[in-house]
Amino acid sequence: MDKFIIEGGYSLRGAVKISGSKNAALPIMAATLLLDKDCVLNNIPHLNDTLVMNKLVNILGGKVSFEGNTVRTANKKIKEFKAPYDLVKTMRASVYVMGALLGRFNKAEVALPGGCIIGERPINLHLMGFEKLGAKITIEHGYIKARAKKLRGADIYLDTVSVGATANILMAAVYAQGETIIRNAAQEPHIVDLSNFLNKMGAKISGQGTNTIKLTGVTSLKGGAYSVISDYIEAGTFMVAAAITNGKIELQNAPADNLEAIKDNLKDTGSEVKIKNKLIIVKGSKIPKPSKIDTAPYPGFPTDMQAQWMALMSVSSGTSIINETIWEKRFMHVPELNRMGADIATKGNTAVVKGVKGLSGAPVMVSDLRAGASLVLAGLRAKGTTEISRIYHLDRGYEKIEKKLEALGAKIRRFK
Ligand code: EPZ
Repeated sequence: MDKFIIEGGYSLRGAVKISGSKNAALPIMAATLLLDKDCVLNNIPHLNDTLVMNKLVNILGGKVSFEGNTVRTANKKIKEFKAPYDLVKTMRASVYVMGALLGRFNKAEVALPGGCIIGERPINLHLMGFEKLGAKITIEHGYIKARAKKLRGADIYLDTVSVGATANILMAAVYAQGETIIRNAAQEPHIVDLSNFLNKMGAKISGQGTNTIKLTGVTSLKGGAYSVISDYIEAGTFMVAAAITNGKIELQNAPADNLEAIKDNLKDTGSEVKIKNKLIIVKGSKIPKPSKIDTAPYPGFPTDMQAQWMALMSVSSGTSIINETIWEKRFMHVPELNRMGADIATKGNTAVVKGVKGLSGAPVMVSDLRAGASLVLAGLRAKGTTEISRIYHLDRGYEKIEKKLEALGAKIRRFK
């Protein structure tokens, strides 16, 4: 298994180009299953997760090629309607093919995703939405089956804001007869991007980016080209990299509009943040000030930045409080950060982070994608050498992370 060795203590300086958004690319790649026409997707990040989605669409009978950051799909003929356990267990976003297959063919079968290191991750709201649209759901032998004679628009209320349920219901409802309303919908940039993609292909969706999304069913979609938005979580991670190393990084192609929460919190902790069109320039401060954050659905502070933020707060000048309100077990990075000299205690979903003067390099292990990002950030700041194992988690969601960091002056190497 590959690992990273980081020699910490260098300020990062220079420019970095932000890649396409993983969490937009995955549902959009799945949504190409709704199209019987060819489609070209640009700015798709080359990651383990997008490769898995590529493989899944191919297994279902679609024709997908993935070259550079371009995915070409020709999904006229789909012959399989079942997403196998082998793939679903490696990537939970596989569940997105369910909404797309159900929407186009009125049938879909997907292995029930199991638990996950960051929390239980139920999909009851996805299934409730499919049922409201007229599908019959059965669960047998570890697979969920959805079947419908005909899908009809419905008024659907999500009692918890869910990115996955909003995206899956959107896809299932594109061809459903009449009007569908999704209330308490997720407002994340990737939901807006999925809606914009579907609209470009001919869907009739409005209200994306608010908590009430409306769709009017259409009878056909066309093909075409679409470019996926940049990844605001990758951008946020590099912003924190500038802050934690007291460096100065210019982020190119960054989705500045989606980064308000990170920007405001970084400024409050003493970093300078300047935004000019698609450029974000972050200049760190020597010792960040402490902060209090609660993770929340967009536009709140993203749970997918919580671990990275904690790495920054571990070297702040005081005590920070971090409440994780989305996932019940998303503190797996805490014991690893403490191995590097951090002083973090957790109780339930709250972490109390007492800033320390310095971190020291140590061997640490990655438990999940964003925990991995926080350990890389801590390693960049720490004195001495940090050896990070199980970095395959990072390869799921950060494109060429070590190359980008190296170009900014980090001493990071991958060992196979
Ligand atoms: C998406 O996961 C992201 N994944 C996650 O990013 C992210 O942490 C999460 O949204 C929250 O922003 C992708 O986009 C591929 P949810 P998702 O459904 O869709 C509860 C990363 O690091 N819930 O919005 O699975 C659930 O338990 C990953 O890139 C239900 O109760 O998350 C959670 O508390 C990790 N029933 C809350 O909603 C349901 O049916 C939000 O989950 C669905 C969810």
